[in-house]
Amino acid sequence: MGFDAIWISPVVENIANVKFLFKLLTIFFIHMFELLIGYHGYWAQDFYTLNSYFGDEDTFSQLASAIHERGMYLMIDVVANHVGNPPITTTMTCPMCNIEDWNDQSQVEQCRLSGLPDLNQSVSYVNSSLCDWVSEYVVGKWKADGLRIDTVSEVHPDPFWTDFARAAGVYAVGEVDNGDPTYVGPYQNYLPGVLNYPMFYSIRNAFGAQQSISSNLLSMAAANQQDFKDWTLLGTFVDNHDNDRFLCDYPDAVSVHNSKELLAGNCSVNDQSKQDCGYVGITESQCTTQSCCWQEVNPNPNNYPWCYYPLGQSSSYRQYENALNFVLTYVGIPIIYYGTEQAFHGCQDPNNREPLWPSSYDTTATLYQFLQVVITARKTMQIWSYNSWNVVYSANNALAYTRGSQFLVLLTNVGDDGSTLSLSFNPQLSSGKYCNVFWPSQDCFTYSSGSVAFSLLSGETKIYIPSDKISDWSVNYYKH
Ligand SMILES: *[C@@H]1O[C@H](CO)[C@@H](O)[C@H](O)[C@H]1NC(C)=O
Ligand SMILES: *[C@@H]1O[C@H](CO)[C@@H](O)[C@H](O)[C@H]1NC(C)=O
Ligand SMILES: *[C@@H]1O[C@H](CO)[C@@H](O)[C@H](O)[C@H]1NC(C)=O
Repeated sequence: MGFDAIWISPVVENIANVKFLFKLLTIFFIHMFELLIGYHGYWAQDFYTLNSYFGDEDTFSQLASAIHERGMYLMIDVVANHVGNPPITTTMTCPMCNIEDWNDQSQVEQCRLSGLPDLNQSVSYVNSSLCDWVSEYVVGKWKADGLRIDTVSEVHPDPFWTDFARAAGVYAVGEVDNGDPTYVGPYQNYLPGVLNYPMFYSIRNAFGAQQSISSNLLSMAAANQQDFKDWTLLGTFVDNHDNDRFLCDYPDAVSVHNSKELLAGNCSVNDQSKQDCGYVGITESQCTTQSCCWQEVNPNPNNYPWCYYPLGQSSSYRQYENALNFVLTYVGIPIIYYGTEQAFHGCQDPNNREPLWPSSYDTTATLYQFLQVVITARKTMQIWSYNSWNVVYSANNALAYTRGSQFLVLLTNVGDDGSTLSLSFNPQLSSGKYCNVFWPSQDCFTYSSGSVAFSLLSGETKIYIPSDKISDWSVNYYKH
């Protein structure tokens, strides 16, 4: 697809499947146990041992080498805030309180996330152990080129995150899950980058909920510049493992009703969002009319029924494509969550952490090809070398901007409504002939000055670059 870096889940050994013991414990600490296995990697048991699901030291080192041989970077997810259960208390942990009020910052820093033992980074041994670990193991031994840092807001940032990032000595992007840029922004004073959670919510509002593009995206872009130290180092995303996937919250309503895979239910279009069914272990009979479940055509090997939102092949992804195009062409470092390219649509975790292999890694999938074209256009024009953007048109339902003087992006949130959106504006490009990378031989214009007439058919998104930069990587994606 053209990605330069892979962010993998945490690699250290996690708490194991000691179900029996934990079941006994849950009698006493019932609220502290949600699941019994740290399958996701965020519940460390031993910081110095690789999780055996990654193989052994040797196989992991082959993974790192294979990534590096391709000229790519390896990013490892690290958790320095907490460790896995059981809920112990020692001189190195914070007290036995759970975070109840996320607006109370001292509680967020000093209490525990769902009962997980929370490390006290003010204890000198804890600080130095974590800093030495990230330097000697994560970067030194396991060869990470960058870090994604978990639960950053749950540790007092000064001086711990500064020391931790300095010890790592590589790019790090921290997770501060909050929509308020004035809350998230200051964390960039301690870490090189943070995930652009404020923009995540704006993207969902603009392209999913079809709220005003200009008021959501432009005001947040202004906040990204004002409230953050360096907006070019923020991680932009529209999906991740902690939130419903875009296609869960905004599934294609038309094809759902035409689907042959309908298993049970009497769903109205409004029922389609926020489904919670599909958890491992649910049975078909539990797919009631309320839960609107579909059997996946090619279910996972254990044959669990999962929620399934069938999507049309040619007409269902328009809003999502616009959101993804924004992620990949906005200022900052774009992050695409695995499975996006296969139109995964899982809802609340763990359903948004689907196994990838049932997709057969289909490289002809619609969104796979879409992402490949956008990424190639982005790389061909090296848009990251322009540290800003120039918004040349904005409205409630459309946005256009340039990166440099030869890369023009057009976005809309109207969706696949069959309409043609006509726009006229001055794209402020350098003179020359430009073509749309998704319709390369037919959608071109020559610019010297003044307004140009553009049209977006059925919610499509466009990228124009100089016609002589377009070659066989560009495809007739929209097949007008
Ligand atoms: C963390 O450790 C420091 C140093 O020992 C101590 O002063 C502080 O009260 C501890 N914090 C918590 C939340 O327990
Ligand atoms: C934390 O540990 C690191 C690495 O040993 C050290 O450089 C740093 O000064 C320590 N921070 C504090 C506040 O002791
Ligand atoms: C579906 O809705 C129709 C109309 O309200 C109703 O007659 C029918 O019994 C419903 N079917 C199921 C399976 O709930």
